[in-house]
Amino acid sequence: MSYKINSLLIHGGIDGDETTGAVNVPIYQTSTYKQDGLGKHRGWEYSRTGNPTRAALEKLIADLEGGEYGLAFASGLAAINTVLSLFRSGDRLIVSDNIYGGTFRILDNVFKNFNITYTIVNTSDLKAVEDAIADDVKAIYIETPANPLLTITDIREVAKISQRHGKLLIVDNTFLTPYLQRPLELGADLVIHSGTKYLGGHSDTISGLVAVKDKLLADRLYYLQNAIGGVLAPWDSFLIIRGIKTLGVRMDRHVKNAGRIAEWLSTSGYVSKVYYPGLESDPGYEIQRKQADGAGAMISFVLDEKYDYRKFFESLKLITLAESLGGVESLVCHPASMTHAAIPADIRKSVGIVDELIRFSVGIEDADDLIEDLEQAIRKSKGNGVINHE
Ligand SMILES: Cc1ncc(COP(=O)(O)O)c(C=O)c1O
Repeated sequence: MSYKINSLLIHGGIDGDETTGAVNVPIYQTSTYKQDGLGKHRGWEYSRTGNPTRAALEKLIADLEGGEYGLAFASGLAAINTVLSLFRSGDRLIVSDNIYGGTFRILDNVFKNFNITYTIVNTSDLKAVEDAIADDVKAIYIETPANPLLTITDIREVAKISQRHGKLLIVDNTFLTPYLQRPLELGADLVIHSGTKYLGGHSDTISGLVAVKDKLLADRLYYLQNAIGGVLAPWDSFLIIRGIKTLGVRMDRHVKNAGRIAEWLSTSGYVSKVYYPGLESDPGYEIQRKQADGAGAMISFVLDEKYDYRKFFESLKLITLAESLGGVESLVCHPASMTHAAIPADIRKSVGIVDELIRFSVGIEDADDLIEDLEQAIRKSKGNGVINHE
């Protein structure tokens, strides 16, 4: 029997514990396993290679993403590190022009040193993607909605391009989660998550996940996962499984709140720009609707020049200034100096990550309270029309 997503969130992967009947997968807090004789083990040898709690989460993310194989890592970046290790010296990746700063950093400061290079492309422009294809390009790496400008890339169409040219399509699905968008079903080869965000959902665990359909690709990734060793610990695997159980109810509220707040911001007169793919005026709106079941809960905006974003951050009461996103609590951040500081200023500016940009991870608090907090902080940030950018 195949279950729908709301049932899979709770019963997907490995449901409970066969041995005791416990309704939750136990935390197998062990590094190693007794072997009954040389070469005779019960499927588990050493917890970097495999651990039953982690395996339950790995099966769960595979089920949720409509894949066959899943892998869990100690962070989103550990997952990205392992995925990028699929490539060899001389290979090139096409990469979306606004991506998480840490993804840019590992490409630019780590993998480039091993001669694995990248070309930055506005991947919402399909012709630009096609034009960037070359023999040395081995993969297209996209985020959609992208971090932090929420740019939408048409996954189906980019998948057609990657398939036509025999390239791998990698999608970072952190912002929407499989509850809203399933890239493997749209033709992608590999999905990455920072499980730290909506999947965990409570800002208490760092984790990364990968899901794929193809057995050969999965075997290579399992090999690299064990060889590199950035695996997720049993306790953290348990916490992410627990977080995923409530993903559906949390996302419903996140998206509802975000829709209201994006509408409010765009008609408030306080902002000069709102980026949210759920607004009809957003350039990605139609594609977003075709490929996902909701626009997510990340909003970016630029305050009107009358307001000083520094004072705005300091004046918030309910909403917290912090790195990260996707938790039940609302967080704001300043991409230029926080999440995207690793991207050189000229590249940031050229793609629109201006110093005044504010990124808002809309939580599941009462939307009226969130709007009230935004409004009082914006009002307090009025700075005589002069912004001090020392
Ligand atoms: C879209 C995206 N991908 C990957 C990462 C990296 O994940 P982690 O912080 O869990 O290493 C982040 C972190 O903010 C992110 O926003």
